[in-house]
Amino acid sequence: MKVLVIGGGGREHAIVWSLQKSDRVTEVVCAPGNGGIAAIARCIPVDVASLADLIAIAEHEQPALTVVGPELPLSLGIVDALQQRGFKVFGPTQAAARLETSKAFAKQFMQRHGIPTAAYAVCTSLEQVREELTRFAPAVVVKADGLAAGKGVILCTTHAEAEAAAAELFSGALLGTSQTELILEEFLEGEEVSFFALCDGQHAIAIASAQDHKRIGEGDTGPNTGGMGAYSTDGLITPAMRTWLTHHVAQKTVDGMSAESIPFSGILFCGIMMTPRGPMVLEFNTRFGDPETQAILMRMETELLDLFLAAVDGTADTLVVRMKPGASVCVIAASGGYPGKVVNGKSISGLEAVSAMASDENFVFHSGTALQDGTIVTAGGRVLAITAMSSQGLEPALASAYATLANIHFEGMQFRRDIAWRALNPAPETQPTLKVVASNS
Ligand code: AMP
Ligand code: GLY
Repeated sequence: MKVLVIGGGGREHAIVWSLQKSDRVTEVVCAPGNGGIAAIARCIPVDVASLADLIAIAEHEQPALTVVGPELPLSLGIVDALQQRGFKVFGPTQAAARLETSKAFAKQFMQRHGIPTAAYAVCTSLEQVREELTRFAPAVVVKADGLAAGKGVILCTTHAEAEAAAAELFSGALLGTSQTELILEEFLEGEEVSFFALCDGQHAIAIASAQDHKRIGEGDTGPNTGGMGAYSTDGLITPAMRTWLTHHVAQKTVDGMSAESIPFSGILFCGIMMTPRGPMVLEFNTRFGDPETQAILMRMETELLDLFLAAVDGTADTLVVRMKPGASVCVIAASGGYPGKVVNGKSISGLEAVSAMASDENFVFHSGTALQDGTIVTAGGRVLAITAMSSQGLEPALASAYATLANIHFEGMQFRRDIAWRALNPAPETQPTLKVVASNS
């Protein structure tokens, strides 16, 4: 079976790497791919924002299955466009992707279907923001409605800060384009978990959970990034919590979307805050997370191809996703200046050494690299995703990833040395517990 993977980050490198483990996959083509993906699959340059170019690639390549990695082509309707042309595609339609592409839609949807989430108000003017703010005790969260690459969420400790943030979103000062709609949200405290479910329009089944590290700095300090590292362990959430999230969040979402005639198929990535009032949805994404995917796929025992086919064929209810016991971690090596402006084209040393050491339990996925005159250079904020697992648990997995990372160097390279610190130093009051589940069932 020939598979076309759309995207060119660490997530797509991990998807291509995992797909190639299946005997049934004869060829993987990646558009556009990157410098690392090019070493294991044929890459076709393309701008993923161009539906016409993506369609032309599918028509030329005639894949048996297409997998869409990033949110941008989903938001533009690539799944609808390919399905209309008879292609088998993994991912949600443009309408179903609104769970990610419109926070107002997602919040109103959760309210309609009784899915636990923070109290909120959708505002279309500064006047309305001022009025609604009187109903929120600080701290309050101000969110842009649409996709904002992690820059559209502002945590405000006072009403004045929230009003200023709203004014900047409306004026365009914050995101470059002026927003017509924003969301005010109650500030939630607790520990965050990324919960991934596979959905086929009717059924939702749990895949795995992971924890991301959104801030650039150690100890979760500094500005937000796309994610500086992730880990996935058996103990991140309890089996009871997994069941609860599957039924009360993922399946409820699939049922609600189906009832509204917008069947949801693909990955439902639930950003959950474990609050003292129980688990609450912070946001939905409608695709795999990056870098959570790198950590999760390394631990996955079930063939990834089976997940994609079950979603596309409507048979997710017959699939059990098995993970290898133990833990996996992913540490991001980012360019100097990230998450601000970065300079591309820096040569990367040590990649030969790490590829000689690569195994099913230790692999360096490329997030933002390019092949320039035969050598791999940096090409983006997040450059490499050093990923490792161990059946013995988190500490050996971390030791393995950091030992690999020690071989790699490029000018300005930055990374966090404290990936998984919350799991290694658990604060009892922030751990998701069964008690929390019981109070909400
Ligand atoms: P989102 O894109 O909605 O997931 O927001 C990005 C990040 O902002 C989340 O991962 C949280 O760390 C934080 N965040 C979002 N909403 C809230 C909230 N209501 N309370 C506290 N933190 C939040
Ligand atoms: N790691 C967060 C995301 O993929 O959105």
